[in-house]
Amino acid sequence: MTALRAGVVGLGTMGRHHARVLAAMPGVRLIGACDPAPQAARHAVAGLPVFPDLDQLLGLGLDICVVAAPTLAHADIGTRLAQAGVHALIEKPLGASAEEGRALADAFERAGLVGCVGHIERFNPVIRAMRDRIARGEIGAVLQVTTSRQGPYPRRIRDVGVILDLASHDIDLTRWITGSPYLKVSAVTNQVTGGSSHEDLAAVAGVLEDGTVVNHLVNWLSPVKERLVTVTGQLGCLRGDLLAPALRLHRHGLRSAPDDQAAGPVADNRGVACKLATHEPLRAELEGFVAAVHGRADHIVPMRAGVEVMDVTSAILSVPRVGVEVPHGGADIAPPSPERVVAVVPPRPGEDGAAHGAAFAHAEPPAASHGDLPVLVAGYVPALNSRRFF
Ligand SMILES: NC(=O)c1ccc[n+]([C@@H]2O[C@H](COP(=O)([O-])OP(=O)(O)OC[C@H]3O[C@@H](n4cnc5c(N)ncnc54)[C@H](O)[C@@H]3O)[C@@H](O)[C@H]2O)c1
Repeated sequence: MTALRAGVVGLGTMGRHHARVLAAMPGVRLIGACDPAPQAARHAVAGLPVFPDLDQLLGLGLDICVVAAPTLAHADIGTRLAQAGVHALIEKPLGASAEEGRALADAFERAGLVGCVGHIERFNPVIRAMRDRIARGEIGAVLQVTTSRQGPYPRRIRDVGVILDLASHDIDLTRWITGSPYLKVSAVTNQVTGGSSHEDLAAVAGVLEDGTVVNHLVNWLSPVKERLVTVTGQLGCLRGDLLAPALRLHRHGLRSAPDDQAAGPVADNRGVACKLATHEPLRAELEGFVAAVHGRADHIVPMRAGVEVMDVTSAILSVPRVGVEVPHGGADIAPPSPERVVAVVPPRPGEDGAAHGAAFAHAEPPAASHGDLPVLVAGYVPALNSRRFF
């Protein structure tokens, strides 16, 4: 079989790794890259031609291409690749908006090309093992997914905020391991550093169509780099550290006692370590892409999945930045604001709109009642840019 002629667009932090892996992959010949930065060639694989312009790279005649340019450039570059008949893997997030993502997915499908998005956590051994164990019923029905993804400010990322850059990973992995689309989301965001005009801190709360409650905490403010995922089910929980990497399974124990009062669940803080595969996620992702080009598309993240993530990020970013005021010492508790701090994720193509919302119809509390408030009514932002929270 002739080797696929490959290119990389954008040779920054991520693009260099794509180039390294592609250069060593059997069945692939990395023939060039494109990056307008004058210093880009210094970081490229030795001897690789690096062009400042995409048309020069396309002039070499590519079969496949990886796009690791800044997010705002994905739509333009992806459209040109689809027009040139080149199969593409575009880094996450697929575009800067759901509309851009959808237009890209349409363009690749229309052209009959493989179009993937780089949601690499699906290839992380921790997430893979988590998904397999959930599917085998080891923690029973999933009730809650919580993720924490934080670390220092990445100076290079100026074009988007933490919702698109960080939370997009957690949204995709949550959707993938639970198998359930998002139904509603709420968020409180802030911008603290002034490094860009985008949010650098967010707490997202949401609910999936199957009723699973989710929380995503993301920031670019912590000196501690952390990527944690906890999935709680009826029988126990799985706690994953994506950086370690490590995964532990904790199961409920039951204490029986002659006195019924003392009987009940017991904690299992130690859990057991789960065995993990040792592959490099990026290599597995690129192997899946190449296999799809050869007709075996079962190990890719299709652009449509990237669009679904972007529908969720758009909904989060559309959440009105108002909330329910918390009473301070007063005797009277104000009724919840009629303006809900919730955005509904749009139904997917072909899905019945009424059925989409039906699962959580009961999550809407009566407007004037304070009882049974769903978790979605979070979000108290007295003055968005005040530093009073910090
Ligand atoms: N999957 C992951 O885990 C992961 C990790 C990091 C970044 N990313 C994604 O990869 C993309 C790049 O991020 P990064 O951290 O590598 O950024 P980066 O700033 O380190 O690199 C971007 C590179 O693209 C080049 N560039 C700018 N405009 C270009 C254009 N029009 N055509 C070609 N090259 C261009 C820049 O000169 C730079 O070298 C982003 O979309 C980001 O979200 C994904």
